[in-house]
Amino acid sequence: MDRGDILSGAAFSAVLRSAVAFVVVLLLFGWVTITSVNQSLIAELGDDVHQRWDIVAAEHAIDGDAQIAATISTLSRVASGGHHAAALFGAEGAFIAGNIMTRPASEGLQVGPLDHAAAATGAVTQEYIYVAARLGENLLVVGERLDLLYRTKILLFRTLTLSGFLIVLTMLSVGYYLSSKSLRRLRDIETALSKTSEGDTAVRISDRGGSTQIDRIARQMNLHFDRLSRMIATTRNTAAAAAHDLKSPLGRAYLSLGRAMERVEQGEDPTEAMSDTQVELERMRVIFDSYLQLSRIETSGDAPLIARVDLRSLTAELVETFALIAEDEGQSLSFAAEAGSDYGVTGDAQMLQQLVVNLLQNAVTHGSMGNRIAVRLERDGPALRFTVADTGPGIPAASMERVFEPFFRLDPSRSKPGNGLGLALVRAIVEKHQGRVALRDNRPGLIVEVMLPAIGP
Ligand SMILES: Nc1ncnc2c1ncn2[C@@H]1O[C@H](COP(=O)(O)OP(=O)(O)O)[C@@H](O)[C@H]1O
Ligand SMILES: [Mg+2]
Repeated sequence: MDRGDILSGAAFSAVLRSAVAFVVVLLLFGWVTITSVNQSLIAELGDDVHQRWDIVAAEHAIDGDAQIAATISTLSRVASGGHHAAALFGAEGAFIAGNIMTRPASEGLQVGPLDHAAAATGAVTQEYIYVAARLGENLLVVGERLDLLYRTKILLFRTLTLSGFLIVLTMLSVGYYLSSKSLRRLRDIETALSKTSEGDTAVRISDRGGSTQIDRIARQMNLHFDRLSRMIATTRNTAAAAAHDLKSPLGRAYLSLGRAMERVEQGEDPTEAMSDTQVELERMRVIFDSYLQLSRIETSGDAPLIARVDLRSLTAELVETFALIAEDEGQSLSFAAEAGSDYGVTGDAQMLQQLVVNLLQNAVTHGSMGNRIAVRLERDGPALRFTVADTGPGIPAASMERVFEPFFRLDPSRSKPGNGLGLALVRAIVEKHQGRVALRDNRPGLIVEVMLPAIGP
C-alpha cells in the first residue's frame, strides 16, 4: 500500500491534528508546572537561607565579633563541594572569613552566582540563593547552591518531554494503523467496483462485521450488488421465458386463424375458429399487460406514494368477491382482522388491490377441492402483517425464491391458468411500498406473508 495514501487518509490526518493540539497543551502545561515549582522551591530555599543567617547572627549576639570569624570558618569548611556558602566581609568589603572570595554587590535575598572558593566542577549550576545583610559593621553572607531546584526542573522537563514523545508516537502509530486499515477497505471496494463494471456480478466486498462508515458503505454496496445480479439474472431468464410463453398462444392463434380461413374458403361458418383465435390473442394481451405493469412499477423510481389506503376495507371487499369463486371450486375463504387497530398504509390503492387479488387468485387457482384459505390482517409494532394461508399443494422450499421471477411456474404442464407474473408483481408492489414479502410452508399448503409499514400508532 502506498505510504502517501495512508498518511493522507482521514484517520491519520485526524490523529495528526490531535497530536499537534496535544503538544501545544503539553507545552503550556509544562511551562505552568515548571514555573510554579520554581517559585515555590525558591520561596522554601529562601526561608532556609534566612534561618541559617539568623543562627549565625544569634551566635554573634552572644559571642560578639571575636568569635564570629571562627564560627564562619568552621561552617564554611564543613560545607561540602561548594554546596553551602558563608562569608564575612569587613566594612570596606575586605574579606574576613568564609568561602566566598568576593563581596556581593548588593544586600538582601538574592539569586545569582557567587565567587565560591570551592567552585565545584560538574555541578548542575553555579547559581546560589543567598542572604547578604549587615551584622554590626560587617556584612554576613549565607547561601546555598540551587542544585535541588535545577535537578527538579531537569527531572520535570525530562519526564514531560519523554511522556509527551511516547504519547505522540503512540497516537501517530494508531492513526497510521487505522488509516491503513480503512485504506485497505477502500481498496476492496475499488476492486469490487471495477470487477462489477467488467461484468462480474458474483463479486462481493468481504464483510468484517465492523461498524465504521466504510463498513456500512461496504454492506450497502453488497446489497446493491445483490440487487444488481438478481436483476441481471432475472432479465436474462425473463427474456427467454417471455419468448417461450408467448410462443404457445401465438402458435395456437396462428393455427385457429388458418382453420377459420379454411372454413371461409369452404363456405362454412368460421365463428368458432375465429373466437379461438381471439382467446389466444387475449391471452397474449394479458401477458403483455401484466408484464408492462410489472416493468412500470419496477422502473417508476422513487416517486412518493401519498394516498392513504385502508387495507382492511380493501381486503374485505375483495375477499367477498373471491369467496364466491372459492365456493364454486369447493374451497373456503375467511378473513380476520383484529378490531380496533388502524390498518392504514401510505400507498397506491390500485397496486395494493392488485397485490391482494394476485394472492387470493393464486390460493384459489393452485388449490383444489377442500382448500381452506385464511386471510389475516394484524398489527406488528410499526408494521402491518397481511397473510394469505391455504391448505393447497404449497411450494417446495427450493422454489420459494424462484416463484417470484417473472414467468416462472411450478407446474410444467401449464394445466392451471396463469402466466407466472402474479408473484413477480406482488414483490414489485411490496417493494414499492417499502415492505417485504416472504413465503412459508403451511404444512400442508402455503403461507404468503406481506409486511408493510403502517400509518399511525
Ligand atoms: N398458493 C399457492 N399454492 C401453490 N403454488 C403456488 C401458490 N401461489 C403460487 N404458486 C406457484 O408459484 C407459481 C408462480 O405464481 P404466480 O407468479 O402467481 O404465477 P401464476 O400465474 O402461475 O399464478 C405458480 O405457477 C405456482 O406454481
Ligand atoms: Mg398467479
